[in-house]
Amino acid sequence: MTEATTGRQYDRWLSGRSLTGLGFSFLASVPGSMIVNTPVFQLDKNLVLKPEHRVLDVGCGRASLLQILGARVRFQRPAVGIDLSRRMLSVGRQEVRAAGRSDVELVQAAGTAMPFASDSFDVATCSYVVKHLDDKGLLSFLRELLRVLKPGGFAVIWEFAPTGSNVLNAWHRWLLSRGVETCNLRGYGELAHAATSAGFEWVENAHLRPFLLPPIPRVSIVVGKPPEEWRERTGLGRARRAAVEAAQARAAAAAAPTAPDTGPAP
Ligand SMILES: C[S@@+](CC[C@H](N)C(=O)[O-])C[C@H]1O[C@@H](n2cnc3c(N)ncnc32)[C@H](O)[C@@H]1O
Repeated sequence: MTEATTGRQYDRWLSGRSLTGLGFSFLASVPGSMIVNTPVFQLDKNLVLKPEHRVLDVGCGRASLLQILGARVRFQRPAVGIDLSRRMLSVGRQEVRAAGRSDVELVQAAGTAMPFASDSFDVATCSYVVKHLDDKGLLSFLRELLRVLKPGGFAVIWEFAPTGSNVLNAWHRWLLSRGVETCNLRGYGELAHAATSAGFEWVENAHLRPFLLPPIPRVSIVVGKPPEEWRERTGLGRARRAAVEAAQARAAAAAAPTAPDTGPAP
């Protein structure tokens, strides 16, 4: 399923009057987010968020996470949320406006093609989004994440995880695809492999907890882009610069005019 279809399915689900749509709409609100995202109570401390950080939330929904974090950290620059769903963003914008906040900016965009310059964000979050991406989409999203993070920046991603039981997994997949069809449940190993393949050099289990409701296991992963100083210290920066200088020297030698042939020296 394409990202555009996912966005349309969220729009349709939230605009309808189905019981699951209404339930999901509540879970995406600030109080609902505190229920399904219980680690949020400690997240600002665990991520060592600072007012000077520029923060991005991918698949922000109604921007509940950003509103919660913003109220605690008081970011100096607006935190940015992107989402595919117009409906989610429009409800989120109304809430942000009603709360008189100017510290949250919402943009309609896909996680695989973010409309931001490279090296833009210090910290990114992404909750309950990657189950909607197939393996190719996940890789594109992680590459984009790597691009938009500043050197030294990091991202925390969490999602529903598979259990050891095929029956339970099938039940969870059914539950989680009530309004939107795709539901790829991946464990830490699969996410870590995708992050490494996308180019992340720092990949770790984030062990976010506790998650209480719904009673489905979660997986969380932290992926980071090392600061330039780290590259220098480990020799990676020196090796890269040496390779660039060697290539420049070769190009200069190839472009240099050859000395005129003046015949044999006297
Ligand atoms: C289950 S909701 C989670 C919302 C929010 N992160 C939270 O925890 O409350 C998933 C959200 O991700 C958005 N989404 C799904 N795939 C996306 C993608 N590829 N790029 C951006 N947003 C996406 C959906 O539109 C939806 O709003």
